[in-house]
Amino acid sequence: MLSKRASSTRHAHATPDQDLRPIVLVGMMGVGKSTIGRRLALRLGYDFADADEEIEQAANMSVSEIFAQFGEEYFRDGERRVISRLIEQDRIVIATGGGAFSEAETRDLILERAISVWLDAPIDTLVQRVARRDTRPLLKDRDPETVLTELMNKRRADYSQASLRVVSDNGPHERTVGAILKALQS
Ligand code: S3P
Repeated sequence: MLSKRASSTRHAHATPDQDLRPIVLVGMMGVGKSTIGRRLALRLGYDFADADEEIEQAANMSVSEIFAQFGEEYFRDGERRVISRLIEQDRIVIATGGGAFSEAETRDLILERAISVWLDAPIDTLVQRVARRDTRPLLKDRDPETVLTELMNKRRADYSQASLRVVSDNGPHERTVGAILKALQS
């Protein structure tokens, strides 16, 4: 007999009206898509995939190396292919890289097949958070606040096409996870 916990997580039988489509987190660099996505997947009993990590594994190179050696267009192509594979699966939370949803083909794939959640945060929060990692090629050698502001201005209209928008503020990640779960239910 399954324990209550196991039966209420990923092995539970789905009811016919349950929405099992992948949940795809989109939004700017530094907003917390990967950290929040992992926690959200745990809460739902879903699998989790980080699209950037999947691209790195497939290429056996880091995102920075791919940008440096082959350029952004090549990276976007790999990103689209990885995301199109991942969204074939039900019961999965996918964290995408910040630019994925601004690529028309990738965005269309996500909009057709998944529930998309735009994780949004003010620029100053993003600036604080990106400072924790120096592995992002688009922030290399430039002022992060300037780059993030430019990118946000370019991408806002794309992100706003997501099925849901949830603000990821400076509070604990669990609060944002709770806000996503609530938005998914409404
Ligand atoms: C990018 C964001 C990065 C990564 C790549 C490009 C972007 O992912 O995909 O460096 O264009 O915003 P994160 O959003 O996880 O940092």
